[in-house]
Amino acid sequence: MDKLVITGGNPLFGSIEINGAKNAAVAILPAAIMASKNKCVIDNIPNIEDVHCIERILKSLGCDIKTKKNSATIDSTHIASLSANTDDVRKMRASYYLIGALLGRFKKASVELPGGCPIGVRPIDQHIKGFEALGAKVKITHGSVMVEADELIGTNIFFDVVSVGATINVMLAATLAKGVTTLENVAKEPHVVDVANFLNSMGANIKGAGTDVIRIVGVESLSGCTYSVIPDQIEAGTYMIASAACGGEVTIENVIPKHLESISAKLVEMGSEIRENGDSITVKSSGNLKGVNIKTQPYPGFPTDVQQPMSTLLTVAKGRSIINESIWESRFKHVDELKKMGANIKVEGRTAIIDGVDKLTGAVVKATDLRAGAAMVIAGLIAEGTTEVLSIEHIDRGYPNIEDKFKALGAYIHRECE
Ligand code: EPZ
Repeated sequence: MDKLVITGGNPLFGSIEINGAKNAAVAILPAAIMASKNKCVIDNIPNIEDVHCIERILKSLGCDIKTKKNSATIDSTHIASLSANTDDVRKMRASYYLIGALLGRFKKASVELPGGCPIGVRPIDQHIKGFEALGAKVKITHGSVMVEADELIGTNIFFDVVSVGATINVMLAATLAKGVTTLENVAKEPHVVDVANFLNSMGANIKGAGTDVIRIVGVESLSGCTYSVIPDQIEAGTYMIASAACGGEVTIENVIPKHLESISAKLVEMGSEIRENGDSITVKSSGNLKGVNIKTQPYPGFPTDVQQPMSTLLTVAKGRSIINESIWESRFKHVDELKKMGANIKVEGRTAIIDGVDKLTGAVVKATDLRAGAAMVIAGLIAEGTTEVLSIEHIDRGYPNIEDKFKALGAYIHRECE
C-alpha cells in the first residue's frame, strides 16, 4: 500500500490546474452507453481510479473504449450485456448510473448495489421511486437491482429529498421515455447540469437543469457526440482550502468561479483574500485565520464534499468553529485522525465543535475515505514535523496527481510505495 509522506510548515506559492470533475465524469461515462448510433468522444476526464473503474465496467458490458490522456472514445453501439455485476460495480457509488442508462436505452438492467465512501447510510429509494413512476418494475434480489419496463412513460416526479444521484439517474431513464417528465425538488449541482448538457449534445431534450425543476421531453434515441467535462468544483475547493491553511498565494486555474462561491465566501469570512479572474481564482492568505460556522447543504450551499478539508483548516483558526453536516450522518471519521495531530474537536451527532489550536503536529494517520484523505494531506501540510498519510487508495479515487500538484506549489510531499 502506498503512503504520502509530508513535512509541513511551508507556505504555498504558484499556480496549479484543476482537472475535469469526478462526479460529472462518473455520470457522463455511463450515460455514454445510451448512444445507439455513433461514438462519444469525452474530453477533460480526470485520471483517477473511480474513472478507471467505470471504464472497466463499461468494457465488461461490451463497450469499446479507447483512452488517450484525458479523453475517451466510447462506442456503445454493440452492448452485449445488460447485467453489471463485477467487483468494480460493488466498489463505487456511481455504478448506479448504469441502472438509469440501461433502463432508458434497453428498458432492462441488472446492476449490483453500489459501494462508495462510508459516510452514511446512502439509500437509493428516490432512484427507485423515480424508475417506478416512469413505469419500471424494480426488484432487489441477491444484492442486485433489477429493473424492467415494457415502455417508460413520462410523468411528474417530486423527490422527497434533494439527491444528486436520484436526479441524474431518473433524468437518464426519462430522456428515452415516451412523453414529458417533470422532475421537481431536484439537485442543482454543477455536475447535474453537466450531465444534462451532455445528454442534450447526444440529442436529448432537457430543460431546467440547475434549477429546482427539470423538464424532459422524451426522444426516440440518442447519438454519440463530442463533449468536454466541466472543471472539478471539489478538487478546486480542496486546493483553495489548502492554500488558505498553509498561507501564501496560489492561483487555481481551469475553474468556474461561480461554482466556488460558497467556499470563497467562507474563506473571505475567515480573513483570506480571494481574487477571481476569468477561469482562475487566486487565494492569498497569511495563514492566520479566524474560525467560522458552516452548515453543509445542497448546491449552491456549502458542499459536504469539502467539509472534511475545511474542518482541517478550522483546527488552526482562531476561536471556536461549528460545523453542521446536514447531508451525511457519518462524515466525521477523519476527526479521530486530526485529534492524533493535536486538534481540539468534539463531535456530537452531526455537529463538530472545533476549538482552534496554535499548531498541529505530524503523526501517522489514515485516510478513512476520499475527502478525509484530502483533509489529512492538508493537516500534514500545516503540521509541525512529518506526517504519514496511509490508505491513500481512497485519495487516488478522486484526486489526480495530488502530490505533484502540491509539490509544484512548494510543499514537501512524496509518495512511498510499500
Ligand atoms: C453524490 O452522492 C456525490 N457522489 C457525493 O460525493 C456527494 O457527497 C453527494 O452527491 C452530495 O452532494 C457522486 O456524485 C458520485 P445524494 P449521492 O443522493 O448522489 C439522501 C464525493 O466525495 N438520499 O445527493 O450518493 C442521502 O442519504 C462523494 O465525491 C436518500 O435519502 O448523494 C443523503 O443524505 C461522496 N435517498 C442525501 O440524500 C436516496 O434515494 C444526498 O444524497 C438518495 C439519497
